Amino acid sequence: MIKISPSILSADILKLEEEVKLLDKNGADYIHIDIMDGHYVPNITFGPNIIKSLRQVTSKILDVHLMIKPVEKYINEFVEAGSDIITFHPEADDNPEEIIKMISDAEIKAGIAIHPKVNITDIDHLFSKVQQIIVMTVKPGFGGQKFMNDQVQKIKDLDEIRKNNNYKYDIAVDGGVNNENAKICKDNGADVLAVGSYLLSQNQNNYSEIIKSLR
Ligand code: DX5
Ligand code: ZN
Repeated sequence: MIKISPSILSADILKLEEEVKLLDKNGADYIHIDIMDGHYVPNITFGPNIIKSLRQVTSKILDVHLMIKPVEKYINEFVEAGSDIITFHPEADDNPEEIIKMISDAEIKAGIAIHPKVNITDIDHLFSKVQQIIVMTVKPGFGGQKFMNDQVQKIKDLDEIRKNNNYKYDIAVDGGVNNENAKICKDNGADVLAVGSYLLSQNQNNYSEIIKSLR
């Protein structure tokens, strides 16, 4: 079954504990945490402390999406804070192989994210080494943007590459996911949907129903 990873990017920070507990209770599989540095992307969000705090209030998988440059020098802090999956953008540092190894050696899942401007063929040498690949369907940096239909082909290609090579990664889709395009993602091979504004803008009483319908 496809997994739902609500992104807390558009949550009310003052009510974050309550929000995460509600998402947890209403069927979220992961909690997606967007880390932005004002350098790799124009926006600034959280540091490793948020992972540490969230670790206290949920046992769900903490799905950490690093949109930072450089990456390597911050990995240990995000590991120690309690991340379960760390996904980064390989073009944001010199040695993505080494970063994947650091994350894997810490016995958590390593992921890479594909910026819309990055081609699959630029990074396919990393595919055998990771447990998650995020296809970005918006330009990273902000929640609430429109889903880029032209990135769907990457989901399909990743699914085919996975089958042909017996690779084990999950395919995640992140950006502008809603009830209209969730099925397109799923039909093309997605395993995980990161969902921000579409879910968090709804009445909290409906979270369970919306998460089910996204699945
Ligand atoms: C965008 C982030 C996404 C974002 C998703 O840079 O990586 O995870 O929070 O939010 P929506 O679903 O609103 O596009
Ligand atoms: Zn994200």
